[in-house]
Amino acid sequence: MNERDRVALDLESVPGIDGSVPGLDAITMRPETKGADMSDARTMMQDDPAATRARRDALSEKILAATTGAMEMFSIYLGDRLGLYEVLAQDGPLSSLQLARRTGTAERYIREWLEHQAVAGLLAVDDPRADAVHRRYSIPPGHEDVLANPESVHYLAPLAQLLAGVVKPLPSLVDAYRSGAGVPYADYGIDTVEGQGRINRSTFLNQLGPVWLASMPDLERRLRRPGATIADLGCGVGWSTIAMAAHYPEATVHGLDTDAPSIALARSNALSHGGGAAADRLEFRVADAGSADAEGQYDLVTAFECIHDMADPVSALATMHRLLKPGGTALVIDERVARSFLGDEGELDGLMYGWSILHCLPVGLHGHASAGTGTVMRPATLERYAKEAGFTRMDILPIEAGFFRVYRLYP
Ligand SMILES: C[S@@+](CC[C@H](N)C(=O)[O-])C[C@H]1O[C@@H](n2cnc3c(N)ncnc32)[C@H](O)[C@@H]1O
Repeated sequence: MNERDRVALDLESVPGIDGSVPGLDAITMRPETKGADMSDARTMMQDDPAATRARRDALSEKILAATTGAMEMFSIYLGDRLGLYEVLAQDGPLSSLQLARRTGTAERYIREWLEHQAVAGLLAVDDPRADAVHRRYSIPPGHEDVLANPESVHYLAPLAQLLAGVVKPLPSLVDAYRSGAGVPYADYGIDTVEGQGRINRSTFLNQLGPVWLASMPDLERRLRRPGATIADLGCGVGWSTIAMAAHYPEATVHGLDTDAPSIALARSNALSHGGGAAADRLEFRVADAGSADAEGQYDLVTAFECIHDMADPVSALATMHRLLKPGGTALVIDERVARSFLGDEGELDGLMYGWSILHCLPVGLHGHASAGTGTVMRPATLERYAKEAGFTRMDILPIEAGFFRVYRLYP
């Protein structure tokens, strides 16, 4: 077997989009019945009151824990957006009054927030028995990278901003679920745009060029030549585009996205990152991936975490195909979901279905004759789209990319 996990583009040989779909019983019985004989499990559910009670209690605990967890995420939103973690990281330990003064916030709110953070195990308190206004709080060792270090690949505070963004249009979502209509990306607001950019920023800046792209020696050689060109479709606020320009000093890199606020942020990110060192080789424009021109002009065409959001993923992939120079490379990076519904590698699927039901599917359904893909785009689904778009082969590259899977498509 060669070093890649090669996937033949033979649609007869692959399962349907989600493989076979078990009945509702299988879903409600998970995880106890995962991999178990379904008839045994059904018997167990009907005949064993103790097991039923245990399942009821486990679900109650799960829901209570999830509610506490949701509150913690929105408390992280406050700490992140108000700069509380940043100031604690720089100047902690601090009392509520000190933190409020340094961040221009109201002491009573900050005191409550700090107490919550300590109870939740997010912050440390120096003396819990001290008077409430004199207690001092700090970020414990190990938590700073996650809460307050935008350069770290462990930085997760922006997930709270993304979460706040995807629930912003909940009332419209309720209507959309009834009507079947989509929800425009713009309705999710700036928290979604910024949260998406910030959660991927450090990974793209630290790993996309030096680790992921560098693992393809042919691509690396080609993109280091003078005159190399890269197009980044669905670039969002531009961190992948900027990362590729930084990694390939001879390359001109074009980012495009349909969302105007994202492109405005991408332009300002290009000017501010590294003192704008690569800004003259970067160009961003508002455009639909399906209609991008410049046929045959790019050595590399990329689409990161966006094909599953697109109403018409096949036309975006057809654009990728069309934009390539002879011998050029198309790369798609998307979520590392299981290959089939309730598949064995499905540890990420719960998270990804969460983004899907709230954001990616409704956004993707906003458009004429949408494919309705959703976040949980299985490799077989992408493979089918790629073939319809004119590609002949899709490889899954053996790159450890966290939440992502890296696909290389061949014209
Ligand atoms: C989840 S974000 C990913 C952004 C960025 N690539 C990243 O990885 O952070 C999906 C992006 O796809 C963009 N998008 C959706 N449909 C598009 C289309 N047809 N053409 C271009 N961009 C599109 C959205 O505006 C959004 O910025």
